[in-house]
Amino acid sequence: MNILVVGRGGREHAIAWKLAQSPLATRIYVAPGSDAMNLSHYTITSLAIDENDNEQLIKFALTYNIRLVVIGPETALLNGLADDFAANGIRVFGPSKAAALIEGSKQFAKELMLKHKIPTAEYSIFDDYDNALAYVKQKGAPIVIKYDGLAAGKGVVVAKNLEEAGQALAEMLRDKKFGNGKVVIEEFLEGPEFSLMALVNGEIVAPLAIAQDHKRAYNDDLGPNTGGMGAYTPVPTISAETVQIAVDTIMKPTVKALSNEKRPFTGILYGGLMLTADGPKVIEFNARFGDPETEVVLPRMKSDLLKHILDILNDIEPQIEWHDDFFLGVVLASAGYPESSTKGAEIRGLEKVENLIFHMGTKMEEEKWVTNGGRVLFVVGRGKTLETAQLNAYSAVDQIDCDKLFFRSDIGNQ
Ligand code: AMP
Ligand code: GLY
Repeated sequence: MNILVVGRGGREHAIAWKLAQSPLATRIYVAPGSDAMNLSHYTITSLAIDENDNEQLIKFALTYNIRLVVIGPETALLNGLADDFAANGIRVFGPSKAAALIEGSKQFAKELMLKHKIPTAEYSIFDDYDNALAYVKQKGAPIVIKYDGLAAGKGVVVAKNLEEAGQALAEMLRDKKFGNGKVVIEEFLEGPEFSLMALVNGEIVAPLAIAQDHKRAYNDDLGPNTGGMGAYTPVPTISAETVQIAVDTIMKPTVKALSNEKRPFTGILYGGLMLTADGPKVIEFNARFGDPETEVVLPRMKSDLLKHILDILNDIEPQIEWHDDFFLGVVLASAGYPESSTKGAEIRGLEKVENLIFHMGTKMEEEKWVTNGGRVLFVVGRGKTLETAQLNAYSAVDQIDCDKLFFRSDIGNQ
């Protein structure tokens, strides 16, 4: 069957790469895809269609006999792309705009969790700078301030003191750095974090292997929050029992809550979770595959992702199998990320590397790879232990040469 993947980054590269291995796949089109995706498998073709151009995407799908659409980015979901495909009779794996609001609005997600008793941090919502500041002063630091809208992982400030909290509120509510939104102010929680994704349709919830993301820009978890600087799976510090508790107390009740609210969810539900002293709690929900978690979780998946998606869309519980090995990936990002990014810097040495590499933001220019975005490459290592996977990833990173890229050297350190 022909499949359309929507998106352009490392996550979509991993999705297209994994789907391409399925005996059920004929051609995989990616809109807009990337040069790297075209070169990674003969069945993958990138299209000159933007991920937010619903009309052209539907026209393409109808003309090219697309039997399944997999949507990567949250912007497309919140733009109603899944609804538009469904309205045209095209099978789609991705939530409706109404269900994707669990990612699109932190206020909506928080209210849903409160109403349905899903464990998460206590919170309050503000759109007025002075009131927010007064609240923060009353609660004290540390305290967490989140912009209520899409900010690509960058609209969250974990303020260690009142000065940092005040600065964040000024940027979000007074200077409107991200737009005209509200902020959610949250209780500071502590504990190890992990990412739990699940294939979901109606009330079927099929959890994927958990992964650990590294969100801060620099080593030792310093610097600003980013979309993610590296990831690994499995996560030895989080037990199977904890994962089961998270599935039973968070993922399943959330899916049920969305159904009850007449926003049934189809697609990937991503729980950004923290294991607190009171058990796992929700830090955030996403309505899509995590990036970069997907780039380690899908390589670890032994069974056929396409079959699993088709099964769940047919109300059959997927039977997912995993490799026992560890998979660890390191993000190479443009100097200045997450505040800024450089484009057009040449990347040398990629041809020497045998590891799996997913391209997050590159372009081919005159036969040379160049940077083309904030996060640029995701280099994957595999090993029988976390340490060997880490060594394998970093020895590949060392072969890549570009003076405009930086990376964290502690991905996988515990
Ligand atoms: P989010 O975008 O909501 O996942 O937040 C980004 C990061 O900020 C998380 O991965 C956490 O490390 C941190 N964070 C968010 N909310 C909290 C919280 N309530 N308590 C402590 N840390 C948090
Ligand atoms: N890695 C976190 C996210 O996908 O939002």
